[in-house]
Amino acid sequence: MSKRRVVLLPGDGIGPEVVEAARRVVEATGLPVEWVPMEIGAIAYEKYGDTLPADVLQEIRRCGVALKGPTTTPSGTGHTSANVRMRKELGLFANVRPVKSVPGLETPYGQTDLVIVRENTEDLYAGLENEIAPGVITSIKVITEVASRRIAKFAFEYAVRWNRKRVTAVHKANIMKKADGLFLECARQESLPYEGRVKFDDILVDALAMKLVTKPSQFDMLLLENLYGDIVSDLAAGLIGGLGLAPGANYGPECAVFEAIHGSAPDIAGKGIANPIAMILSAAMMCHHLGDVESYTRIRKSVRTITTADHELLTPDLGGKGTSRTLADAIVREVERRRREGDD
Ligand code: NAI
Repeated sequence: MSKRRVVLLPGDGIGPEVVEAARRVVEATGLPVEWVPMEIGAIAYEKYGDTLPADVLQEIRRCGVALKGPTTTPSGTGHTSANVRMRKELGLFANVRPVKSVPGLETPYGQTDLVIVRENTEDLYAGLENEIAPGVITSIKVITEVASRRIAKFAFEYAVRWNRKRVTAVHKANIMKKADGLFLECARQESLPYEGRVKFDDILVDALAMKLVTKPSQFDMLLLENLYGDIVSDLAAGLIGGLGLAPGANYGPECAVFEAIHGSAPDIAGKGIANPIAMILSAAMMCHHLGDVESYTRIRKSVRTITTADHELLTPDLGGKGTSRTLADAIVREVERRRREGDD
């Protein structure tokens, strides 16, 4: 296999430690990758006055693939989100977040095996906010037919490719009859060619929240607008043991950017205790995207072996005493062993 160039974006906060762990795991698989490290987020802002410098976007376009850590976006004031900009500028319209129970980690919610497909480019993330009178702000929710059809079609195609049985569109079309009504109608129409192969239904987002924490196994794939997708995927990560376990990927027609669901976790940044598993599983998704299904499977199996092997090894968010480094070391060793000996 020829060497693939991949842009490596450590981000800030816990980003550098989890991205480094993921990079080492990919190296352990033997997949020939030439990393192109670049800076984004708070670090880039301090240095260049821009959280997402133009040359980073250009390099991602050139390579087609990036492995990305989280970046901090201040609440209320300060710079706008590098993530939102990156997704828009690179046309990364589909955010895929598989949320699957991890063997060895018991939770009160039972088995979860969900795939969340989130529209990534519009909705309230359009950033159209105005103070129309003192003390009165409007924030515009943008839902278009083109983007809604595109994400729905993506979800059904994904379902067929990954042998999933059902797509549930999530909305609040009883209140936002036009915006969410359009999203729902587009999903319904796009489901028609898949009849008999993929079941389609829908649910109000508030009812979904209740049903997810009651019995997550009743859902298969969820199709959501941008904001609901953001909120529901953090909730879903909580069902399997937390944000340290849930990977993700952003896909567009030209590029794909792989990143965990979680943010920069300022409360634990610099302590060396961030859980690298979500980022490592995101890197596994990247291997699959690059055509290396063997490494994808090997990384996932290695993570499962380690989470069932020794609880002490796990990071504190999972009740263990490990560090990002020691947990990553154990996963790297397991990937190397499996590669050396061949998987069973
Ligand atoms: P967060 O995901 O960073 O943290 C929420 C909670 O989960 C914290 O208690 C944190 O310690 C914990 N956590 C997250 N990832 C973890 C990991 N790998 N291991 C162990 N514990 C973990 O969300 P928060 O605090 O709302 O946001 C912090 C910053 O991150 C904000 O500036 C936000 O804008 C940014 N953010 C960036 C994202 C991205 O770059 N894709 C995504 C989400 C948030």
